[in-house]
Amino acid sequence: MLEEMIQQILNGCSEAVSKAQNTRELIEAKVKFLGKSGGLTMLLKELKNVPPSQKPAMGKRLNDVRGHLEEAFARAEDSLKTKERAQRITAETLDVTLSKQSTEYGALHPLSIVKNDIINIFTGMGFQIKDGPEIDFEYYNFTALNIPEDHPSRDSADTFYINDKMLLRTQTSAVQVHVMEQQKPPIRILCPGKVYRPDDDATHSPMFQQVEGLVVDKHITISDLMGILGEFAKKFFSSETKIRLRPSYFPFTEPSVEVDLSCSMCGGKGCRLCKGTGWIELLGAGIVNPAVLDCSGIDSTEYSGFAFGMGVERAAMVKYGIPDMRLLFDNDIRYLKQFR
Ligand code: PHE
Repeated sequence: MLEEMIQQILNGCSEAVSKAQNTRELIEAKVKFLGKSGGLTMLLKELKNVPPSQKPAMGKRLNDVRGHLEEAFARAEDSLKTKERAQRITAETLDVTLSKQSTEYGALHPLSIVKNDIINIFTGMGFQIKDGPEIDFEYYNFTALNIPEDHPSRDSADTFYINDKMLLRTQTSAVQVHVMEQQKPPIRILCPGKVYRPDDDATHSPMFQQVEGLVVDKHITISDLMGILGEFAKKFFSSETKIRLRPSYFPFTEPSVEVDLSCSMCGGKGCRLCKGTGWIELLGAGIVNPAVLDCSGIDSTEYSGFAFGMGVERAAMVKYGIPDMRLLFDNDIRYLKQFR
């Protein structure tokens, strides 16, 4: 009778041990069979009803069973613990090969890159950076620059007027006058800034940027202009780049020139970029008209100077071969990314 119950416990235990999926289930089973009110403890209590002659044998038998079961539980617990540890390690493993979510980095706009490049090249040659007002008097934008009252650029079709006397500057040349009023020669300045004109097509925008250069000192000649701009062209475009001067006209310079660059794409042979001429127009320049110096209080019998004005968008388009200026203002990130 007792032996039968022992068998039941042994079977129950071995079933519970093999069924247990984890240590928690195993411990529950162990408590059920071996705990204070577990099956085996109950059997030990039955021992008092066993006839005295069988008691020692039965006691030993029950002790052996207990030892056997404890061992079986311990072994099972060991192997479940090992299994659980392995599972935990797998679950907690970091996959270092997993690609992280990519972060988009910002970058300078191509126009800022080009403007900074221009500034760096000229400051490297000793030019000082100057600023001027975008809303200016007609006097600075036109009159003081020797632009006659009836000049077509003064027309309201070509200039944004704010009132009779004030306008959005159409050229950074206006800053030349501000500087010359405040500073005596030697002057060697560069004025980057926004200018405004009522134009809007593939190569013109109502707002664009210019960089104005002005050098005033004793004995300044057109050779100085050629030397500085030739050096700039080599640094900004390539060491192969040459410049060429063509006669032109601006009321504030005399003589006036257009400065062309040898085409970087064909090296001067003629291609689509330079429209077959081998040269690309870059900027306007000239020897400062003595009338402009005198008007700003600089003695033109003692001093002379040169000035130039370059479009930043134009420089960027030439440098990167950008066909349409609007690409620079649309701010399509996919396009702008290429310049990073
Ligand atoms: N201001 C002229 C323009 O906007 C460029 C220029 C600047 C020409 C200085 C000569 C000297 O076209």
